[in-house]
Amino acid sequence: MRIDVVSIFPEYLAALDLSLIGKARQDGVLDVRVHDLRSFTTDRHRTVDDTPYGGGAGMVMKAEPWAQALESVLDGAPAAERRPTLIVPSPAGAVFDQAMAYELAELDHLVFACGRYEGIDERAIDWARGDFDVRPVSLGDYVLNGGEVAVLAMVEAVGRLIPGVVGNPESLVEESHSDGLLEYPVYTKPSSWRGRDIPEVLLSGNHAKIAEWRRLEQFHRTAERRPDLLAGVDTGALTKADLRA
Ligand code: ADE
Repeated sequence: MRIDVVSIFPEYLAALDLSLIGKARQDGVLDVRVHDLRSFTTDRHRTVDDTPYGGGAGMVMKAEPWAQALESVLDGAPAAERRPTLIVPSPAGAVFDQAMAYELAELDHLVFACGRYEGIDERAIDWARGDFDVRPVSLGDYVLNGGEVAVLAMVEAVGRLIPGVVGNPESLVEESHSDGLLEYPVYTKPSSWRGRDIPEVLLSGNHAKIAEWRRLEQFHRTAERRPDLLAGVDTGALTKADLRA
């Protein structure tokens, strides 16, 4: 997968050199390129923002540097990937979740446009719809200072779903949100620690019983912490007592 990120703080994206995503880049599984928006300005001050029409607080990112940067990304894209998905991180976007991560992991080319200040001149976003599938995406219902932190989160969530990024693909199967539920609790050695014992069933060697216990724990956790998620899950024969709801 090819990923381009445009930002006025390219150093923010240095974390993409680390850990599994960094390794995937080294291995050629992910081709991540970070671009400095300011290098697409033409004035002496490398201006990327200006005051908003209609008044109001803060500054708005100018359309032209964005158009130049995105045209340059398109020029450098392989011919087969000429209509990339342009993700615009914004608190005004659709909320990012695991289902969206799976959807984006199927694509060949993602481009992230990191806005700062009060956002990007809307005309640049409209213009980009000519060449990109544009998706404004929010990390959640809170406001960050810019899109960079959201991009780090999204690239990690999407990147780890790409074959070859996570060493053991089985670890993707039994994790929170993969089946609509939160993950069950996990334990490691020693079996007794500071007076706390692990649940006995985990020492039973009975794999069916362990699977059943884990599934029930998933329901308990989800009912307690994220009851909103249960609406989309078949709770089958479980009673309210089973769910401790
Ligand atoms: N930029 C500012 N706030 C954001 C959020 N919640 N999600 C994505 N990008 C943002």
